[in-house]
Amino acid sequence: MALRDNIQSLLGQVSELKANNAEELEALRIKYLSKKGEITALFNEFRNVPNEEKRELGQMLNQLRQTAEGRINELKEQFEAKKAEADKLDLTRTPDPIALGTRHPLSLVREEIEDIFSRIGFTIAQGPEVEDDKHVYGMLNFAPEHPARDMQDTFFVEKEMGVQKPTDVLLRSHTSSVQTRVMTSQKPPIRVLCPGRVYRNEAISARAHCFFHQVEGLYIDKNVSFADLREALLYFSKEMFGPETKIRLRPSYFPFTEPSAEMDISCNICGGTGCSFCKGTGWVEILGCGMVDPNVLEACGIDSKEYSGYAFGMGVERITNLKYRVKDLRLFSENDVRFLRQFESC
Ligand code: PHE
Repeated sequence: MALRDNIQSLLGQVSELKANNAEELEALRIKYLSKKGEITALFNEFRNVPNEEKRELGQMLNQLRQTAEGRINELKEQFEAKKAEADKLDLTRTPDPIALGTRHPLSLVREEIEDIFSRIGFTIAQGPEVEDDKHVYGMLNFAPEHPARDMQDTFFVEKEMGVQKPTDVLLRSHTSSVQTRVMTSQKPPIRVLCPGRVYRNEAISARAHCFFHQVEGLYIDKNVSFADLREALLYFSKEMFGPETKIRLRPSYFPFTEPSAEMDISCNICGGTGCSFCKGTGWVEILGCGMVDPNVLEACGIDSKEYSGYAFGMGVERITNLKYRVKDLRLFSENDVRFLRQFESC
């Protein structure tokens, strides 16, 4: 009788066997079906069963063994299927690509300008954004009362918090300050490009901002002429805006260059025939330039009888506007991804 009860109780157990992994399953197999397993032990007991009960108990035992084997095989197949699935994973595969960010249009344009000038021998020079009056104005031949120094244009940095008096420390309003630093620290020949952020105290609107970006250039050597300047700028304009581009130089004034000029390119939107962008003139202004004033050379310790040079400066936002038709300057600093994503493939 004991055997019958044992069979029944084991049958209940084995039909609900559970295992979390292949090891646990093997332990179950050993527990029930190995030579010393519980079911095997019942088979041993079976030998002592009286003949008249053998048939029935034999069937019960077989059913118990089949159930145990069936359940164990079922679980085994489940684990094998899981393992096969895991083996399919190629762990050496590179992960899914991370979405790449986009390059900022101002960086794209600045780098293009740098690349164009580097092909004719210009190297990059950089300097501080927080500057002193001497490097931004004084050595560049600005008269002491020049209006650019006025609080309207220049952000002065207060030395002591809360003290409202203007000081000598300011945010550079052009990267010509880098040129004075290069001229005072290097000997000619000098051929540098000075890209960087500049600050002016302007009300923020679609057409003006309190900071923007410039690329200025400076070339000083013996016998540098205005024709050299013109040639370099024509080369730049054609590289930047296409081989059809024409340039036009108009007389202008900057304290640090003499003669000074402003340069227009033939409107790259209408090709020079006149459109709303160029206000019907066929020309758009893109930069200021001129021959470095001898006073500037002397202030920087360069002999103006031996050396001459040219300088030019342009706004990166302006060039970007021409290249990519970005009408509102504020878009450049708002970091709206809907704007920035448009430059994904550039
Ligand atoms: N520094 C001038 C500006 O900020 C640009 C310029 C540079 C003009 C060099 C002439 C020569 O407007």
